[in-house]
Amino acid sequence: MAEPSGASIVLIGMMGAGKSSVGRRLARRLGWDLLDSDRQVEELTGRTVPEIWRADGEAAFRKLESQVLATALASATPQVIAAAGGVVLDEGNRRLLADHQPVVWLRAPVETLIARIKRGDGRPLLADDPAGAMTRLEAERRPYYQEIADLTVDVDNEHPADDVTERILRHLGLTSAAGTSPNL
Ligand code: S3P
Repeated sequence: MAEPSGASIVLIGMMGAGKSSVGRRLARRLGWDLLDSDRQVEELTGRTVPEIWRADGEAAFRKLESQVLATALASATPQVIAAAGGVVLDEGNRRLLADHQPVVWLRAPVETLIARIKRGDGRPLLADDPAGAMTRLEAERRPYYQEIADLTVDVDNEHPADDVTERILRHLGLTSAAGTSPNL
């Protein structure tokens, strides 16, 4: 179980698990910045993720992803880091994440992920056969998420992002530090 150390909270999990929406809420509750690794890559390059993928390929994207993750984890200012689903593929990234606390895995049933990503995405890995790709990727990555996470939070369509956010804050012992803004 992670210590409420004031270190950045890292959210990991598959595409569609809700890292961005939960990350936004966590950041708001804590008064911290949200850093989304995909957005950081886009800021760094001035191109969108699909553009980078198309022009330079997945390997080039993964290098940029590792670069922004390392920079984010090295920040002395606590922030909420929404790490894109594929960060766990790289061994160096996994080592960095294993050394960092707290890392929170948003674990969703694969059926939930498939249902969610049907509602639009722009994710190159899911361009053809989204359900098949999601099933295969989830099975490949699940052991990595499990190995790295300090805290696992189950998410599904019964639990809106607000509930998930509250559970994370509670588990990390951060509820008293957080504000009680009613308009989350
Ligand atoms: C990917 C996840 C995406 C994005 C890219 C590849 C992956 O980010 O980085 O499409 O390999 O799981 P999200 O997890 O934020 O959707």
